[in-house]
Amino acid sequence: MNNVIQMIDEAASYIRNHIDFTPQIAIILGSGLGPLAGEITSPVVMKYSDIPHFKASAVAGHAGELIAGTIDGRKVLVMNGRFHYYEGHRMEIVTLPIRVFARLGIRNLLVTNAAGGIADRLNPGSVMLITDHLSMMCPSPLIGPNLDEFGPRFPDMSEAYSKELIRKADEIAEEKGIKVQHGVYIGTQGPTFETPAEYKLFHILGADAVGMSTVPEVIVANHCGIKVFGISVITDLGVEGKIVEVTHEEVQKAADAAQPKMTTIMRELINRA
Ligand code: HPA
Repeated sequence: MNNVIQMIDEAASYIRNHIDFTPQIAIILGSGLGPLAGEITSPVVMKYSDIPHFKASAVAGHAGELIAGTIDGRKVLVMNGRFHYYEGHRMEIVTLPIRVFARLGIRNLLVTNAAGGIADRLNPGSVMLITDHLSMMCPSPLIGPNLDEFGPRFPDMSEAYSKELIRKADEIAEEKGIKVQHGVYIGTQGPTFETPAEYKLFHILGADAVGMSTVPEVIVANHCGIKVFGISVITDLGVEGKIVEVTHEEVQKAADAAQPKMTTIMRELINRA
Protein backbone atom coordinates (compact mmCIF):
# COMPACT_ATOMS: atom_id res chain seq x y z
CA MET A 1 0.00 0.00 0.00
CA ASN A 2 1.20 3.53 -0.71
CA ASN A 3 2.93 4.77 2.43
CA VAL A 4 1.13 8.14 2.45
CA ILE A 5 -2.24 6.44 2.05
CA GLN A 6 -1.40 4.15 4.96
CA MET A 7 -0.49 7.17 7.11
CA ILE A 8 -3.73 8.92 6.18
CA ASP A 9 -5.77 5.81 6.99
CA GLU A 10 -4.05 5.27 10.34
CA ALA A 11 -4.68 8.88 11.43
CA ALA A 12 -8.27 8.72 10.18
CA SER A 13 -9.02 5.52 12.07
CA TYR A 14 -7.55 6.94 15.29
CA ILE A 15 -9.89 9.93 15.00
CA ARG A 16 -12.89 7.76 14.03
CA ASN A 17 -12.26 5.62 17.12
CA HIS A 18 -12.41 8.69 19.35
CA ILE A 19 -15.60 10.27 18.05
CA ASP A 20 -19.10 8.92 17.64
CA PHE A 21 -20.27 11.22 14.85
CA THR A 22 -19.38 12.17 11.28
CA PRO A 23 -17.81 15.64 11.23
CA GLN A 24 -19.11 18.05 8.58
CA ILE A 25 -16.72 20.98 8.74
CA ALA A 26 -13.00 21.21 9.50
CA ILE A 27 -11.41 24.38 10.81
CA ILE A 28 -7.73 25.26 11.05
CA LEU A 29 -6.84 27.94 13.59
CA GLY A 30 -3.59 29.86 13.03
CA SER A 31 -1.23 31.79 15.32
CA GLY A 32 -3.05 33.55 18.15
CA LEU A 33 -6.42 32.54 16.67
CA GLY A 34 -7.17 29.64 19.04
CA PRO A 35 -10.09 31.06 21.07
CA LEU A 36 -12.70 29.76 18.61
CA ALA A 37 -11.82 26.35 20.06
CA GLY A 38 -13.41 27.53 23.32
CA GLU A 39 -16.80 27.67 21.54
CA ILE A 40 -16.92 23.91 21.00
CA THR A 41 -19.47 22.06 23.07
CA SER A 42 -18.89 18.46 24.23
CA PRO A 43 -15.28 18.68 23.03
CA VAL A 44 -13.16 15.60 22.48
CA VAL A 45 -9.54 16.73 22.59
CA MET A 46 -6.93 14.68 20.73
CA LYS A 47 -3.33 15.77 21.15
CA TYR A 48 -1.37 15.77 17.89
CA SER A 49 1.33 13.78 19.68
CA ASP A 50 -1.24 10.95 20.15
CA ILE A 51 -2.63 10.94 16.59
CA PRO A 52 -0.58 8.71 14.26
CA HIS A 53 1.66 10.81 11.95
CA PHE A 54 0.44 14.16 13.29
CA LYS A 55 3.37 16.27 14.49
CA ALA A 56 3.52 17.91 17.91
CA SER A 57 3.41 21.66 17.26
CA ALA A 58 6.66 23.43 18.06
CA VAL A 59 5.36 26.93 17.32
CA ALA A 60 4.32 29.27 20.15
CA GLY A 61 0.62 30.14 19.89
CA HIS A 62 -0.21 26.77 18.32
CA ALA A 63 -1.82 24.45 20.87
CA GLY A 64 -1.23 21.24 18.93
CA GLU A 65 -4.66 19.72 19.49
CA LEU A 66 -7.41 18.40 17.28
CA ILE A 67 -10.77 19.04 18.89
CA ALA A 68 -13.96 17.33 17.81
CA GLY A 69 -17.36 18.57 18.91
CA THR A 70 -20.28 20.82 18.07
CA ILE A 71 -20.43 24.54 17.24
CA ASP A 72 -23.91 25.96 16.71
CA GLY A 73 -25.31 22.50 16.07
CA ARG A 74 -22.74 21.62 13.41
CA LYS A 75 -20.31 18.77 13.91
CA VAL A 76 -16.78 20.13 13.59
CA LEU A 77 -13.16 19.08 13.76
CA VAL A 78 -10.91 21.94 14.79
CA MET A 79 -7.14 21.97 14.39
CA ASN A 80 -5.81 24.28 17.05
CA GLY A 81 -2.43 24.86 15.44
CA ARG A 82 -1.12 23.60 12.09
CA PHE A 83 2.01 22.06 10.61
CA HIS A 84 4.31 24.44 8.74
CA TYR A 85 6.76 23.74 5.96
CA TYR A 86 9.35 25.87 7.77
CA GLU A 87 9.30 23.44 10.70
CA GLY A 88 11.02 21.00 8.38
CA HIS A 89 8.01 18.78 7.67
CA ARG A 90 7.62 17.33 4.22
CA MET A 91 4.69 18.75 2.28
CA GLU A 92 2.83 15.43 2.56
CA ILE A 93 2.98 15.86 6.37
CA VAL A 94 2.03 19.55 6.26
CA THR A 95 -1.08 18.59 4.33
CA LEU A 96 -1.77 15.17 5.88
CA PRO A 97 -4.64 16.48 8.05
CA ILE A 98 -6.50 17.68 4.96
CA ARG A 99 -6.46 14.23 3.39
CA VAL A 100 -7.48 12.76 6.73
CA PHE A 101 -10.42 15.20 6.75
CA ALA A 102 -11.33 14.04 3.24
CA ARG A 103 -11.25 10.42 4.43
CA LEU A 104 -13.56 11.34 7.31
CA GLY A 105 -16.08 12.77 4.86
CA ILE A 106 -15.52 16.48 5.42
CA ARG A 107 -16.76 18.70 2.57
CA ASN A 108 -15.97 22.20 3.93
CA LEU A 109 -12.68 23.57 5.25
CA LEU A 110 -12.36 26.92 7.00
CA VAL A 111 -8.76 28.14 7.36
CA THR A 112 -7.41 31.08 9.32
CA ASN A 113 -4.00 32.66 9.55
CA ALA A 114 -2.11 35.68 10.78
CA ALA A 115 -0.63 37.64 7.90
CA GLY A 116 1.34 40.73 7.03
CA GLY A 117 -0.68 43.38 5.18
CA ILE A 118 0.79 44.51 1.87
CA ALA A 119 -2.16 46.43 0.41
CA ASP A 120 -2.41 50.06 1.49
CA ARG A 121 -6.02 49.61 2.63
CA LEU A 122 -5.08 47.03 5.30
CA ASN A 123 -4.12 47.87 8.89
CA PRO A 124 -3.06 45.78 11.86
CA GLY A 125 -6.31 44.25 13.11
CA SER A 126 -7.95 44.20 9.65
CA VAL A 127 -9.80 41.03 8.70
CA MET A 128 -9.25 39.93 5.10
CA LEU A 129 -11.38 37.30 3.38
CA ILE A 130 -9.04 35.42 1.05
CA THR A 131 -10.32 35.49 -2.52
CA ASP A 132 -7.33 33.79 -4.13
CA HIS A 133 -3.71 32.94 -3.49
CA LEU A 134 -0.22 33.03 -4.96
CA SER A 135 2.21 30.28 -4.07
CA MET A 136 5.82 31.19 -3.34
CA MET A 137 5.98 27.94 -1.39
CA CYS A 138 7.43 25.58 -3.92
CA PRO A 139 7.44 22.59 -3.88
CA SER A 140 3.78 21.90 -4.49
CA PRO A 141 2.24 19.49 -1.98
CA LEU A 142 0.99 17.49 -4.97
CA ILE A 143 4.48 16.70 -6.33
CA GLY A 144 5.00 12.95 -6.73
CA PRO A 145 2.69 10.14 -7.77
CA ASN A 146 -0.88 11.37 -7.85
CA LEU A 147 -3.17 9.96 -5.17
CA ASP A 148 -5.91 9.09 -7.65
CA GLU A 149 -8.41 8.11 -4.98
CA PHE A 150 -8.29 11.68 -3.63
CA GLY A 151 -8.29 13.72 -6.82
CA PRO A 152 -6.99 14.26 -10.35
CA ARG A 153 -3.37 14.68 -11.51
CA PHE A 154 -4.02 18.26 -12.66
CA PRO A 155 -6.56 19.81 -10.29
CA ASP A 156 -8.55 22.87 -11.24
CA MET A 157 -7.83 25.93 -9.07
CA SER A 158 -10.18 28.43 -10.74
CA GLU A 159 -12.18 28.85 -7.55
CA ALA A 160 -9.74 27.78 -4.86
CA TYR A 161 -11.71 29.81 -2.30
CA SER A 162 -15.45 29.26 -2.52
CA LYS A 163 -17.29 32.33 -3.82
CA GLU A 164 -20.42 31.11 -2.07
CA LEU A 165 -18.69 30.98 1.33
CA ILE A 166 -17.14 34.43 0.74
CA ARG A 167 -20.62 35.78 -0.07
CA LYS A 168 -22.03 34.28 3.12
CA ALA A 169 -19.13 35.70 5.17
CA ASP A 170 -19.78 39.13 3.63
CA GLU A 171 -23.43 38.88 4.66
CA ILE A 172 -22.44 37.90 8.21
CA ALA A 173 -19.91 40.75 8.45
CA GLU A 174 -22.56 43.21 7.27
CA GLU A 175 -25.15 41.93 9.77
CA LYS A 176 -22.65 42.05 12.65
CA GLY A 177 -21.20 45.44 11.68
CA ILE A 178 -17.72 43.99 11.14
CA LYS A 179 -15.61 45.62 8.47
CA VAL A 180 -13.90 43.08 6.22
CA GLN A 181 -11.65 43.41 3.21
CA HIS A 182 -11.16 41.03 0.31
CA GLY A 183 -7.70 40.16 -0.94
CA VAL A 184 -5.11 37.81 -2.37
CA TYR A 185 -2.87 35.90 0.06
CA ILE A 186 0.69 35.01 -0.90
CA GLY A 187 2.20 32.03 0.90
CA THR A 188 5.96 31.91 1.49
CA GLN A 189 8.14 29.19 2.95
CA GLY A 190 9.17 31.37 5.90
CA PRO A 191 10.47 31.41 8.56
CA THR A 192 11.81 34.88 7.79
CA PHE A 193 9.44 37.80 7.65
CA GLU A 194 9.93 39.76 4.43
CA THR A 195 12.55 42.30 3.50
CA PRO A 196 11.09 45.62 2.31
CA ALA A 197 12.07 44.62 -1.25
CA GLU A 198 10.17 41.33 -0.92
CA TYR A 199 7.02 43.03 0.39
CA LYS A 200 7.25 45.40 -2.58
CA LEU A 201 7.74 42.53 -5.04
CA PHE A 202 4.75 40.65 -3.62
CA HIS A 203 2.62 43.76 -3.94
CA ILE A 204 3.67 44.17 -7.57
CA LEU A 205 2.77 40.52 -8.13
CA GLY A 206 -0.79 41.21 -6.96
CA ALA A 207 -0.73 40.04 -3.34
CA ASP A 208 -2.54 41.91 -0.58
CA ALA A 209 -1.28 39.93 2.41
CA VAL A 210 1.58 37.53 3.09
CA GLY A 211 2.03 34.60 5.42
CA MET A 212 3.83 31.31 5.89
CA SER A 213 0.97 28.81 5.72
CA THR A 214 -2.44 28.03 4.21
CA VAL A 215 -1.46 27.62 0.54
CA PRO A 216 -0.41 23.93 0.79
CA GLU A 217 -3.54 23.03 2.75
CA VAL A 218 -5.78 24.85 0.27
CA ILE A 219 -4.12 23.18 -2.73
CA VAL A 220 -4.67 19.74 -1.21
CA ALA A 221 -8.23 20.56 -0.16
CA ASN A 222 -9.00 21.57 -3.75
CA HIS A 223 -7.38 18.38 -5.00
CA CYS A 224 -9.72 16.42 -2.71
CA GLY A 225 -12.78 18.41 -3.80
CA ILE A 226 -13.21 20.07 -0.39
CA LYS A 227 -14.74 23.55 -0.48
CA VAL A 228 -12.48 26.19 1.15
CA PHE A 229 -13.03 29.45 2.98
CA GLY A 230 -9.98 31.41 4.18
CA ILE A 231 -9.57 34.40 6.44
CA SER A 232 -6.42 36.38 7.31
CA VAL A 233 -6.04 38.53 10.38
CA ILE A 234 -3.58 41.29 9.55
CA THR A 235 -0.98 41.60 12.29
CA ASP A 236 1.72 43.85 10.80
CA LEU A 237 2.35 45.87 7.69
CA GLY A 238 4.62 45.38 4.71
CA VAL A 239 3.53 48.67 3.16
CA GLU A 240 6.33 50.99 2.05
CA GLY A 241 6.88 53.71 4.65
CA LYS A 242 4.96 51.76 7.34
CA ILE A 243 7.29 48.77 7.73
CA VAL A 244 8.63 48.29 11.23
CA GLU A 245 10.50 45.45 12.87
CA VAL A 246 8.19 42.45 13.36
CA THR A 247 8.43 39.60 15.87
CA HIS A 248 6.38 36.45 16.36
CA GLU A 249 5.27 37.73 19.78
CA GLU A 250 3.87 40.91 18.22
CA VAL A 251 2.13 38.87 15.55
CA GLN A 252 0.50 36.73 18.25
CA LYS A 253 -0.54 39.78 20.27
CA ALA A 254 -2.07 41.51 17.25
CA ALA A 255 -3.87 38.31 16.21
CA ASP A 256 -5.19 37.93 19.74
CA ALA A 257 -6.58 41.47 19.71
CA ALA A 258 -8.31 41.05 16.34
CA GLN A 259 -9.53 37.49 16.79
CA PRO A 260 -13.00 38.32 18.27
CA LYS A 261 -14.06 39.71 14.85
CA MET A 262 -12.76 36.63 13.11
CA THR A 263 -14.31 34.32 15.68
CA THR A 264 -17.75 35.95 15.20
CA ILE A 265 -17.59 35.51 11.43
CA MET A 266 -16.35 31.94 11.66
CA ARG A 267 -18.94 30.91 14.23
CA GLU A 268 -21.80 32.17 12.05
CA LEU A 269 -20.27 30.74 8.90
CA ILE A 270 -20.06 27.31 10.54
CA ASN A 271 -23.79 27.59 11.09
CA ARG A 272 -24.49 28.61 7.49
CA ALA A 273 -21.80 26.70 5.54
N1 HPA B 1 5.10 37.97 6.72
C1 HPA B 1 4.98 36.64 6.70
N2 HPA B 1 4.24 35.97 7.56
C2 HPA B 1 3.54 36.67 8.47
C3 HPA B 1 3.62 38.06 8.54
C4 HPA B 1 4.46 38.75 7.62
O1 HPA B 1 4.59 39.98 7.62
N3 HPA B 1 2.82 38.46 9.56
C5 HPA B 1 2.28 37.34 10.09
N4 HPA B 1 2.72 36.24 9.43
